[in-house]
Amino acid sequence: MNGAAVVTGAASGIGQALAEALAARGVPVTLADRQLELAEGVAAGIRERGGSASAAELDVRDAARFRAVVDEAAQAAGSLGYLFNNAGIGVAAEMSDYDAADWDDVIDVNLRGVAHGVLAAYPRMIRQGSGHIVNTASMAGLISTPFQGSYTTTKHAVVGLSKALRLEAQQHGVRVSVLCPGVIRTPILEGGRYGRLKIDLNPSEMAQRFEPLRPMDPALLARRTLAAVDRNRAIIIEPRWWRLLWYVERLSPKLSARLGRASFRRMQRELEELRRSGPATQAERPEDSSQA
Ligand SMILES: NC(=O)c1ccc[n+]([C@@H]2O[C@H](COP(=O)([O-])OP(=O)(O)OC[C@H]3O[C@@H](n4cnc5c(N)ncnc54)[C@H](O)[C@@H]3O)[C@@H](O)[C@H]2O)c1
Repeated sequence: MNGAAVVTGAASGIGQALAEALAARGVPVTLADRQLELAEGVAAGIRERGGSASAAELDVRDAARFRAVVDEAAQAAGSLGYLFNNAGIGVAAEMSDYDAADWDDVIDVNLRGVAHGVLAAYPRMIRQGSGHIVNTASMAGLISTPFQGSYTTTKHAVVGLSKALRLEAQQHGVRVSVLCPGVIRTPILEGGRYGRLKIDLNPSEMAQRFEPLRPMDPALLARRTLAAVDRNRAIIIEPRWWRLLWYVERLSPKLSARLGRASFRRMQRELEELRRSGPATQAERPEDSSQA
């Protein structure tokens, strides 16, 4: 029997696609998310297709609850095969517009949440002498992205955490990879359920801005990611053309910074034009869009 997989942020987007792809391979999956109802719906769909899946309510900021979810999944399947630390949020704004809560929310979910996952799964994997931890960072963890200061900060940290953990985990037979997607077609492009836009764009205008970057279908991303996980790749970048930007960052940090500044100025210009061309189209967020 396959060891269990726990996927955080599995109610939606990339996490959902990873859970579905894992289940299609016969891996029993726990879909862990704050959005329990949505996660239950995805799990039911997997079971209808013959897979093994259950949903668990989890806020990754809660380390004790994270541990309980991982323990339950591992005990039910006999062992823990994978932890996908995937839940994440963003607050889109210039850093001059952030307040302390914007920093706290993003750091607590994107960085502390991943650390909580490691605390929950790694000791068990060490005891087993096997297991694979896959942390979802982002291309924003490899290059700096404007209007996403706290996001790019935490995603760089997740890349660093994953690389350091991989060095140490090898001696225990435990594998560690970090997934760095470019742009994937998921609700986060509109701000996400628990993230927010602190700029004068509404959610669909925001998502529209990513279209020139040809967002990838999450199901394709999940299939490619699992193939790379099978090969124990340290850093997984999809869609593949985004690797070019990572090469530029390493070969010519100056050129990379120039490209980053150009993208920052373009976004500033677009926002300025929108401000001038009429009343700001304020983002319509659900009432409880903060992490609190
Ligand atoms: N979509 C992209 O273009 C893209 C690119 C690079 C990286 N990523 C990363 O991929 C991961 C998944 O994002 P997505 O694109 O599927 O977005 P998404 O908004 O569709 O999914 C995020 C999921 O995380 C859950 N979540 C948020 N806060 C949580 C918390 N505190 N505890 C538990 N669950 C929580 C949400 O309920 C949601 O189901 C994130 O880490 C994101 O930063 C996405």
